Amino acid sequence: QVNGLEFAVADLSLAEAGRHQLRLAEHEMPGLMAIRAEYAAAKPLKGARIAGSLHMTVQTAVLIETLVDLGAEVRWVSCNIFSTQDEAAAAVVVGRDGTVDRPTGTSVFAWKGETLDEYWWCTEQLFTFPGGHAPNMLLDDGGDATLLVHQGAEFEAAGVVPEPTEDDPEEYRIVLRTLRESLAADPKRFTRVASEIKGVTEETTNGVKRLYKLAEEGKLLFPAINVNDSVTKSKFDNKYGIRHSLADGINRATDVMLGGKLAVICGYGDVGKGAAESLRGQGARVVVTEIDPICALQASMEGLEVVRLEDVIEKGDLFITTTGNLDIIMAADMARMKHNAIVGNVGHFDNEIDMAGLAKVPGIRKVEIKPQVHEWVFPDGHAIIVLSEGRLMNLGNATGHPSFVMSNSFSNQAIAQIELFTKPGEYDRDVYRLPKHLDEKVARLHLDALGVRLTELTKKQAEYIGVDVAGPYKADHYRY
Ligand code: NAI
Repeated sequence: QVNGLEFAVADLSLAEAGRHQLRLAEHEMPGLMAIRAEYAAAKPLKGARIAGSLHMTVQTAVLIETLVDLGAEVRWVSCNIFSTQDEAAAAVVVGRDGTVDRPTGTSVFAWKGETLDEYWWCTEQLFTFPGGHAPNMLLDDGGDATLLVHQGAEFEAAGVVPEPTEDDPEEYRIVLRTLRESLAADPKRFTRVASEIKGVTEETTNGVKRLYKLAEEGKLLFPAINVNDSVTKSKFDNKYGIRHSLADGINRATDVMLGGKLAVICGYGDVGKGAAESLRGQGARVVVTEIDPICALQASMEGLEVVRLEDVIEKGDLFITTTGNLDIIMAADMARMKHNAIVGNVGHFDNEIDMAGLAKVPGIRKVEIKPQVHEWVFPDGHAIIVLSEGRLMNLGNATGHPSFVMSNSFSNQAIAQIELFTKPGEYDRDVYRLPKHLDEKVARLHLDALGVRLTELTKKQAEYIGVDVAGPYKADHYRY
């Protein structure tokens, strides 16, 4: 704590470097800047205490300062142990008017290269605002903060946190320990937090899946807005964001020539489509794996061969998982790969690649080439290169998606926060999407920067196709 501000970041002296990057990012984030201008006077988030768990990057810093400008009090952590940009975290803490000795910004608990213990310690810091207040809004990416509240409240109701079983992964053991300590110190902490929270806005596919499951089971404790499925989020960030940041991550990690290489993309959803385009753009020969016949057919129509992993496991130079599913590349698969094949994941969780199994291969050796780049040498002498230990490599090895695309995602986030905070009576404990006119608004906010001249409907044309001149222009079932 310095100057009454709580925080835990790598190095506050990076703040100036971070501030320069934020300044440039602001120019590339016209949606967020327009939202700042629109709501600066009204301050619709006055009274909001937002607990945010989302990659602490430069772009996220612009989101945080936007939420603050809209009146909110904010506490922030990263949703991945490798994704923080330390200079961005420092800039947010120091704030726009503060100094390293007298920070006046926002409480951030995040640094690049956290251990899992540190990660869950940071996440826990979200739930106590100054003065002992609980947050009243959540902004989540992947659902870890939401999970902690739900599990905490569930165990508090039962009066006990279960002992981990043999099969529980290390990370879940840490969650259980965190909650056990919390319950011992304050037996109703998360119950109270849950009752204060007006809602959560969720950023990504995997987090949204968790929310729908909770809602189906009748366990969701507050309303949720699925930001991911705004068209201006998943059809842009997941696709065009990855198109940029996947190649960026591979290049920064390995600097290997991608042209001519055989690249295997597992999953051809929104992220997979961007990944395939990214590597095709570099001249790689791209093949994909899919379980969904529609996505497999789409890949085929794009001229991509659709294969099974086993068909290419010995031939591929590069393997990227994008499925949001588990057990995609197992240790036995990695053992069969070519010497120095590169393996990386851009799906949200680290269970797509069997890192635990890899570590257990008898006689295997792990050599650190540099942070987040490891050579795994099998006993026969051949090796593979694993990026970011199987975690989101576009954030671990590079800096995630660029500002312009994140401006679309985060404009949806800011609007969703305003929606849930200012209209609490209008949402039940269910998962909602933003209405289409707001999705169109987000897109509109980004057109001028690109010099787009949109055609306006005439009244006659609007009547003919059955829409309003001012939109929305498509039915909800339209797929883009
Ligand atoms: P999606 O649902 O559109 O795509 C996933 C695809 O994987 C689906 O088409 C599905 O049929 C396929 N799939 C599932 N199991 C498979 C298997 N065993 N083998 C082959 N294919 C399989 O989801 P989306 O939006 O593409 O997201 C994918 C993941 O990426 C999620 O975990 C999401 O949270 C994450 N994400 C990561 C970002 C990043 O910056 N790294 C950005 C946005 C999303």
